Amino acid sequence: MLSDGVRRIAAVSAPEVESVTVGNLGDAGNDPAHQVLRKTFGYDSFRGPQRDIVEQVIGGGDALVLMPTGGGKSLCYQIPALVRPGVGVVISPLIALMQDQVDALNAVGVRAGFLNSTQFPDERRTVEAQFVAGELDVLYLAPERLRLDSTASLLDRGKISVFAIDEAHCVSQWGHDFRPDYLGLSMLHERWPDVPRIALTATATEATRKEIAERLDLTRAKHFVASFDRPNIQYRIEGKNRPEHQLLSFIQNEHAGDAGIVYCLSRNSVEKTAAFLTANGVEAVPYHAGLDNRTRATNQARFLREDGLVVVATIAFGMGIDKPDVRFVAHLDLPKSVEGYYQETGRAGRDGQPSTAWMVYGLSDVVQQRKMIDSSDGDAMHRRQLQLHLDAMLALCETVQCRRVQLLAYFGQQGERCGNCDTCLNAPESWDGTVPAQKVLSTVLRLKRERGQSFGAGHIVDILIGKRNPKVEQHAHHELKVFGIGTELRDIEWRGVIRQLLAQGLLAVHGDYGVLTLTEASNQVLFEKREVMLRREPERAKAARTPKPAKASRLAAADLSKSDTDLFEKLRAWRGATAKEQGVPAYVVFHDATLREIATRKPATLADLAGISGIGENKRAKYGEGVLEVIAAAGGTATPAAQVDSTGLFGSPDGPAEAGAGRPAAKSSTNGRRSADARGETSSPAGASGSAAVSPAVGSRFAAASSPTARQDASAAHGSAGGSTAPESRHTSGSGASPSAGRRAGSTPPPSNFAAADEIPWPDEAPPDFDDLPPDYQ
Ligand SMILES: Nc1ncnc2c1ncn2[C@@H]1O[C@H](COP(=O)(O)OP(=O)(O)OP(=O)(O)O)[C@@H](O)[C@H]1O
Ligand SMILES: [Mg+2]
Ligand SMILES: [Zn+2]
Repeated sequence: MLSDGVRRIAAVSAPEVESVTVGNLGDAGNDPAHQVLRKTFGYDSFRGPQRDIVEQVIGGGDALVLMPTGGGKSLCYQIPALVRPGVGVVISPLIALMQDQVDALNAVGVRAGFLNSTQFPDERRTVEAQFVAGELDVLYLAPERLRLDSTASLLDRGKISVFAIDEAHCVSQWGHDFRPDYLGLSMLHERWPDVPRIALTATATEATRKEIAERLDLTRAKHFVASFDRPNIQYRIEGKNRPEHQLLSFIQNEHAGDAGIVYCLSRNSVEKTAAFLTANGVEAVPYHAGLDNRTRATNQARFLREDGLVVVATIAFGMGIDKPDVRFVAHLDLPKSVEGYYQETGRAGRDGQPSTAWMVYGLSDVVQQRKMIDSSDGDAMHRRQLQLHLDAMLALCETVQCRRVQLLAYFGQQGERCGNCDTCLNAPESWDGTVPAQKVLSTVLRLKRERGQSFGAGHIVDILIGKRNPKVEQHAHHELKVFGIGTELRDIEWRGVIRQLLAQGLLAVHGDYGVLTLTEASNQVLFEKREVMLRREPERAKAARTPKPAKASRLAAADLSKSDTDLFEKLRAWRGATAKEQGVPAYVVFHDATLREIATRKPATLADLAGISGIGENKRAKYGEGVLEVIAAAGGTATPAAQVDSTGLFGSPDGPAEAGAGRPAAKSSTNGRRSADARGETSSPAGASGSAAVSPAVGSRFAAASSPTARQDASAAHGSAGGSTAPESRHTSGSGASPSAGRRAGSTPPPSNFAAADEIPWPDEAPPDFDDLPPDYQ
């Protein structure tokens, strides 16, 4: 569970900070923060460092908060905003999510509004008036609005309780989500020095944290660093063979009917993959910056509102999305950094339920990423920075140690072997690959020395295994001394060796054709007996072929008895209808975890409902009767007569429950604006068979290529580059290879057994066209 993960907390004060005196909040039962937590949000206890953070801010101090994705950062500013006098102003880049955030707050009775460019002037004027009149508790603001003088003078006219800077890593110029407008946020402190500030992010190494603190003028703030462990997420990285088929098999075998996010690098592969999944019975929608705003907004809204929908997206999707039941995050292309990978995978399992972070990775990823760095804009220092990010990502892919230990180490935290990642569950071997490495390197060397030629990996492998194909004959490469010296490995295994040599920096790749060249370190292997340890993937195909028991519809119902499951499903149906009627995502009404607790405890009265996690006073008043009716109609312990509000707060119930799914709760007064496009259940093929013949690629072990210290140096050196564009911004089309026609999305039925890995020559793997746009949250 997530709570286990955040229990191991370190509240770290910045060294130069004096201890901060916080407000006198009294004991847990009476202090206003705890009361808000309980009564408004319906939660019993704070998670991890939430309590300390909230106290710090309520007491008027500044805070810098690092908590993993889904860790519970929002409450850290929402509660101070409710306890302190005035309006809490939240700076957030997530314009497309502001409506949902406001809806979610309205649902618990918090008065919230937002100001951004998507509104009509009169809508904005209404919110501005509410702000000035103190009729809001929380105001969400897009960072670009702070550039406007009118915004600053508006803020002057109201009373501000706290400034919250959400997604604070957007201020980091060398991070993956840089937003120039964030650089202006230090003005908050200058203009309103008495208002406490809290900056929050899920993405921060030691170096990024320093950068955030400096840029936002928060060096004297108290820093809170929660554990970054997300124990409910299982991390797996597999050899890339036929990515779309591997993905389909993964979803069908392990996550049929579940909501998930699939990340691809290019729009083109996003479109293809979404179409392929849909054609094969897994409903999926695309999301990328090339779609028009309307389609993008619709697809995002569908993902948030529907159960079991898959979104195939570029990195531009997902930041801050509070959909609690995303059961898997899949990567079909290698992310550019561990930070990015961790943030994306963190979108799985925000509800603390078991979830999977699954990725396929192969030689082509290394070649493509290196190529992208070579051709990227920016100076040598910038490229070096990208290189360090990539090296750390490759180190994670190639490790023979626990993935989680390596991930946490990257964020400067210690962990133990987790038992819930692929290397823990199915330990890969490490083997001495010195001789094969020498064979590869000497082939590259001889081609250069004897012929003055350089070739890509595919051709080098053909020479090694002695394949006399037309290209070999054309160049008379069968006459080379190294021709056929590598028959001990299959070509898929040779590609694994080359991939790992690239990952370890023992080989380099250049140019549009991805030709291989030696590095200085290559010489150590060739001439100085440097040992090369490689990673051998455990044979996984067998495990994948074992038929899985037909999956119960969802994990959410996993540990419920049969009758409780029935009630749970009825509650879900009621929730779906209610959410649809109100035009909000289902989880804004109640999370699965709350419905599960209701299904097991079968509360009989409104008072009983109060003890259930996730039901605050507002939700109890709004939905309580509806829930009790569902329970009664399902033959639960609740009877109409029992539905008496023992608190006397909510009046008496209005008659016996009807049969069926119950009467939906009263319409929300907070939001009649949006159309309810929610759909009912998504049907999906249960446990269709199919197995991924995952390549027994060879691999290596090597130390993390990029240490936090190294990155720190690099990022410090970047301080002068103010105002330039995001470092990992757009990449134009790389090589123009087109996807092989035989594997077109939807043109073939799902194979029951995939082709052996070595039937798919590496060069056919279509490289993405890197037409992705910079992150776009609108
Ligand atoms: N003390 C708590 N008890 C129970 N549930 C909680 C608690 N605090 C937060 N949650 C729940 O955890 C979920 C994630 O919280 P939140 O949206 O604040 O995450 P976050 O840290 O902002 O993540 P992200 O980085 O993705 O924005 C929410 O559904 C929230 O209701
Ligand atoms: Mg958040
Ligand atoms: Zn592990």
